[in-house]
Amino acid sequence: MSKTWRPATQLVHGGTLRSQYGETSEAIYLTQGFVYDSAEAAEARFKGETEGYIYARYGSPTNDMFEKRMCAMEGAEEARATASGMAAVAAAILCQVKAGDHIVAARALFGSCRWVVETLAPKYGIECTLVDGRYLENWEKAIRPNTKVFFLESPTNPTLEVVDIAGVAKLANQIGAKVVVDNVFATPIFQKPLELGAHIVVYSATKHIDGQGRSLGGVILSDTEWVNEHLQDYYRHTGPAMSPFTAWTLLKGLETLPLRVKQQSENAGKIADFLAEQKQVAKVIYPGRKDHPQADIVAKQMKGGSTLVAIELKGGKEAAFALQNALEIVKISNNLGDAKSLITHPATTTHKNLTDEARAELGISPGTVRLSAGIEDTDDLIEDFAQALSKIKA
Ligand SMILES: Cc1ncc(COP(=O)(O)O)c(C=O)c1O
Repeated sequence: MSKTWRPATQLVHGGTLRSQYGETSEAIYLTQGFVYDSAEAAEARFKGETEGYIYARYGSPTNDMFEKRMCAMEGAEEARATASGMAAVAAAILCQVKAGDHIVAARALFGSCRWVVETLAPKYGIECTLVDGRYLENWEKAIRPNTKVFFLESPTNPTLEVVDIAGVAKLANQIGAKVVVDNVFATPIFQKPLELGAHIVVYSATKHIDGQGRSLGGVILSDTEWVNEHLQDYYRHTGPAMSPFTAWTLLKGLETLPLRVKQQSENAGKIADFLAEQKQVAKVIYPGRKDHPQADIVAKQMKGGSTLVAIELKGGKEAAFALQNALEIVKISNNLGDAKSLITHPATTTHKNLTDEARAELGISPGTVRLSAGIEDTDDLIEDFAQALSKIKA
């Protein structure tokens, strides 16, 4: 494996461990355990004196390929694959804090991520402050002497706010705290949080990395020192490991990730431009458009506009429901990052557990819908929106 390969090459070949049979496609090592040539060999493996696997909860060959391919893509030293994105988020945060520590997190988070920092962490004596992450001064003001972790996603779900990752990392470095970035919406193709100064990156691999609606998975990426000090024992002993079968589907997903994300973001951008001109639409938020409220930060840290578009309809919930029900190609689903275009109404699905005030703070109105653009033909998608919009009142 060459470190100089560009992303598209890394995503096809990075991390490959070929067996003695010389298979083209990566092998699925669907085993729980491993056998040793002798008792002495087992002892040496357990002492860490020889390389090799011990137990699939700790690590296994197919997972290793997925982890190494992700490291090559992300520029990380280490990765740990997890059974879901939430297993990755929870482990990345909880492994490094203890009672009495303090977390600062952006309030615009995916619902389950927000529950981990806002509800779960305080049960164990870990304090949490949620801030409007768009403004760096809010992060700075929230710092306490016991602040250990900053947590954010950028762009955010569903209104595609962005956080200045380099700015937050600078603040964190001043106090020795770690920045954890949930990079799901940006994808590893469009944003590299480690290069921007973040210390830990997490993904729901369920989204673009699989991208074909098959597997739940997640991954945590960072440097060797942090993994050894914080994550290694947590991961081994609490057991969020990914199934090797899932690692195999995700390896296949990584091979086509750049092609899918390119087509999805092109579709997202063209649909956003089309919708912005329609009389039924009050507002379109897309990081790839010049009218994005934080276009300067997008330009600084993202290489593309992402695959998601937030659309606010003038007719409120009634129009949002009518649009979803009239779409023929675009499916109604709370998932995202898929080859199929998906649309959801956050106020009644992904963000239904928030109070009305919390939703308003995040810019989620009754007329907001979130589109995850798929890889279908652009013109078919635009025609689908045109026919669906024609059925709702302006
Ligand atoms: C931004 C973000 N983070 C984390 C997750 C959790 O991922 P998973 O569903 O794989 O557990 C999601 C899932 O929707 C998400 O959108």
